[in-house]
Amino acid sequence: MGLSQQTIENVKSQIDILDVIGDFVSLKKVGQSYRALSPFTNERTPSFFVSPAKGIFKCFSTGKGGDAISFLMEHEGWSYPETIKYLANKYGIEIIEDEYTDEQILHQNERDSLYIAMNFAKEYYKHNLLHTDEGKNIGLSYFKERGFNDNTLDIFELGYSLDQWDHFLKYALEKGYQQDIIEKAGLVIKKEGSSQNGGRGIYDRFRGRAIFPIHNLSGKVIAFGARVLKNNSKQPKYINSPETDIYYKGKNLYGLYQAKQSVRQQDNVYLVEGYTDVMSLVQSGIHNVVASSGTSLSDDQIRLLRRFTQNVTVVFDGDQAGIKASLRGIDMILSGDLNVRTVLLPEGEDPDSYSKKLGPPAFQKYLEQEIQDFITFKTGLYAEEAAKDPLKKAEAIREVIESISRIPDPIKRTVYIKQCSDQLDIEESVLVAEQNKILLKRKAGKREYDVISDIIEEKEATRRSYKNWDEEEIVALQEKESIRLLLSYGYNEIEEKHHLYDYLLEELEEVEFSTPVYKEILALFKKELAQGRVIDAMYILQHGTENMKSEVIDFEANSERYLVSSNWQKQFNIYVPEEKEILKQVTFTNILRLKFRVIRKLIKQNLQDLKNAPLDEQQKFQKIHANLKKSEMEFAKLLGNVAV
Ligand code: GTP
Ligand code: MN
Repeated sequence: MGLSQQTIENVKSQIDILDVIGDFVSLKKVGQSYRALSPFTNERTPSFFVSPAKGIFKCFSTGKGGDAISFLMEHEGWSYPETIKYLANKYGIEIIEDEYTDEQILHQNERDSLYIAMNFAKEYYKHNLLHTDEGKNIGLSYFKERGFNDNTLDIFELGYSLDQWDHFLKYALEKGYQQDIIEKAGLVIKKEGSSQNGGRGIYDRFRGRAIFPIHNLSGKVIAFGARVLKNNSKQPKYINSPETDIYYKGKNLYGLYQAKQSVRQQDNVYLVEGYTDVMSLVQSGIHNVVASSGTSLSDDQIRLLRRFTQNVTVVFDGDQAGIKASLRGIDMILSGDLNVRTVLLPEGEDPDSYSKKLGPPAFQKYLEQEIQDFITFKTGLYAEEAAKDPLKKAEAIREVIESISRIPDPIKRTVYIKQCSDQLDIEESVLVAEQNKILLKRKAGKREYDVISDIIEEKEATRRSYKNWDEEEIVALQEKESIRLLLSYGYNEIEEKHHLYDYLLEELEEVEFSTPVYKEILALFKKELAQGRVIDAMYILQHGTENMKSEVIDFEANSERYLVSSNWQKQFNIYVPEEKEILKQVTFTNILRLKFRVIRKLIKQNLQDLKNAPLDEQQKFQKIHANLKKSEMEFAKLLGNVAV
């Protein structure tokens, strides 16, 4: 049997692309279209667009694009029929099937069979829990003892596996399931020559355990976690399904299917350790919660969360040893450019125990009141230790800076460094130095993709905020560009026997830099030049002050723009000249812009002076104004003639 053409047509006529994609991605309206962070990459600047009018999406960072159906196929990894069925379900459309050809039966999708087998197993475990004596006496009574109500059991589809060697296997075979599929689904364990199960060599994976189904984002069961219920059992507390064709461990988060709607609404997700912690929070009325299952999050899991929110709140159990161990894992989340906050529970409590102790309203209030920014929290933790033992101060700095340096946004980093300098009572420059060390080391191993997305993001951020900048800041930007050219290409000849620094220094005689750090670098350059040395970025990195080094690290990132160019060149066959080839023009433009901006700044200052001046002095300022305006015009004209 296959889907009838009629069903496919009905589904297609119902599709609303915003609604379909909106189930997986947080879309924001921008003009006629909708925008989001690409669900296919770990980007920080939205490059994913949906046009409802055209019924299409386009992801500019991966080049993927198409309609709602191709989105689902790409995103969820579904086949065409799987996708149509999903949509039919979503829109309540009746599925009419045609006869399958023999060939189609032969090629019946194996993944489909795995989903079906897992669903069958889930229903079986649920039935055991609720309707068998053993399940009720051992499984259900355990859940009830821990305070979980029927609604929670239902939301998470909890179950129980009977304490027998092959009850499930026999039942499944009896119901017509192929042994091959049951094995591939990881529901049974096959060991040739094993003496278990009376030497039959095959037996149920889960026996005598509480069963926690693990769902994918569309609610299908793809794996199980299973907890022992016998006391003093030598078995591990939890066992899990192995990885299969439908289950990749690091790509799922327990509870996300149940949480996703709420995560989006609250724009925040609570991260806890265990299955039962998730259930307890949900029972306390907090639905935006997922579990890391005791390990730190993988890149894929972080990417998964980013599709729903940028805000993660980590709930820490109240035991000191445990906290420090989990801190490292949090750095990964920071790298993903998520805002991380924390809630620390009292000594000896975990989310499960504490939510039950307080009851829903008080627990909710606790979470709201105790929430703290992660960096502040971590710094506080180490500050306390360092205060007791000064020898620990170096460790505190390293630890805190390690985390801060993970944050991709340089502005956020600066804010945190300021704050930590207060908290740890350590000079900002010391912290900046430590950060520079780490950043430089890491930059060496950066992948091309990250560099490119950094640059694109930076450009966009600049463009977005440019309008709000005052002249002061724009001048600083041009000063920075002069220094970059000087340190990167100072010794290059832009004309015969005429070095770039000759030209730049001459032009800069007329302009006094206003930004202290650029002024200092320029002075250093001149001083060394007087000794016959032309210094460069490397020299600053070795001998400069920490502030100077920070600037140079920035340039370095910038110069990688040309890595993008070469990429464009390859990809689109566009000729992008290297900066070196157009140095003269670049330098000339920079000087013009700098002077132009300085003049605008002077105009502004002069107008201010004019306003404050007594009547009899106003004429003087008006004259200055007229002159400045004339120069402004001239520079504007010159700039207009320069290709930018
Ligand atoms: P309870 O002990 O019933 O409260 O369970 P919990 O879900 O709170 O578990 P716990 O805090 O001990 O561990 C957190 C998570 O780590 C669990 O939910 C599991 O996902 C995972 N885990 C714990 N113990 C084991 C184990 O022995 N094997 C495996 N594979 N995972 C485990
Ligand atoms: Mn627990």
